[in-house]
Amino acid sequence: MSLQNVIKPLATARGLPNEHYISADMYAREREVLFFKNWSAVAFESDVKIPGDAFPVDFMGVPLLLVRAKDGAVNVFQNTCRHRGMILVDEPTHLKGPIRCPYHSWCYSHEGKLVRTPYVGGVEIDTHEAIKPAELSLFAIKSHIWHGVVFVNISGDAAPFEEVHKDLLKRWSEFQQPYHLGGTASRFDMKVSANWKLAIENFCESYHLPWVHPELNEISPISVHYPIDDSSGYAGQGSRNYNQLVGKDDRRFPDFKNLSPIWEKQAEYVSFFPNVLMGVHRDHTYATILMPQSSEETFERGALFYADKHIDTPQWQDLLKENTRIWQDVFSEDIGVVEGMQKGRNGPMFDGGKFSPVMDGPTHVFHKWVARQMQSNE
Ligand code: FES
Ligand SMILES: [Fe+2]
Repeated sequence: MSLQNVIKPLATARGLPNEHYISADMYAREREVLFFKNWSAVAFESDVKIPGDAFPVDFMGVPLLLVRAKDGAVNVFQNTCRHRGMILVDEPTHLKGPIRCPYHSWCYSHEGKLVRTPYVGGVEIDTHEAIKPAELSLFAIKSHIWHGVVFVNISGDAAPFEEVHKDLLKRWSEFQQPYHLGGTASRFDMKVSANWKLAIENFCESYHLPWVHPELNEISPISVHYPIDDSSGYAGQGSRNYNQLVGKDDRRFPDFKNLSPIWEKQAEYVSFFPNVLMGVHRDHTYATILMPQSSEETFERGALFYADKHIDTPQWQDLLKENTRIWQDVFSEDIGVVEGMQKGRNGPMFDGGKFSPVMDGPTHVFHKWVARQMQSNE
């Protein structure tokens, strides 16, 4: 089936064909086109909290290394030694000195410069004219931090992040302010036996709310939701009935600063292509990074963020845990349908499905994004 059918108007379009969900070859093509050529999320900024923290990431098979440098910058490198290609750091660590390769001890600064090459010219001779450190820095990966998430562009030739994502940056400009992870109480991980796209698609629509999230639908019913489908780089849904969590003694999380009154009751949730699910509320935001493992397996890493920099302190722990639990429950409720759609796509007669012209606009935005990028990179 042709991708031409995907980019038709919503009422006549078909969804992406099955092969985009179950074929290893298609997964490999999407990895190059959708992930490596775009800005993809690979980690949270909080994975490298203080200077010297190093965090390795296996990003769809590419070994990356995040290092928090002395000046506070988060540097991203390919996690590969320039000598014989040894993996440099294979578990999260705090570096007391340079990045030292465990094989022959070549050392790199936290900026990626090759600073020591012991015995490279023979025993006790640490230099050789053929080894020019200036040419042997770690391979740097273009990166950008937004909303607590570290994005990378592996191909190195994407337009700047702010340009590619100007629509959402504008839409959420009021939320462009400091975020603080609520500590370990505000992190959750999940494994989903489904293609990464199904998690994106499920998150961007509210159509399933009454049947998959009956409790959430009581508080924030489908009738107060609206679709967000007016851009090509993200899609989602909003609610006009956000109610803050209230703890003991009427305690509530502090609001982000200077938000317009509309955000008192409004919350928005978008799938940010290719691989982040994000939500913003007056008093917290969250991001779930999708780390595809294969065409049919996805690892999800979630984190919740707050306005107050002292949020990770004892008096907030109960409320932090409760808020994480609420969202984790919602995400867990979605697993069944996301995995169910994956199973359904092994039915050879499935033809991409039929969109509701009213309820499925956001999903169609995502399918068009995939189809256009795949077509223009054929
Ligand atoms: S492979 Fe790293 S120093 Fe030899
Ligand atoms: Fe859901």
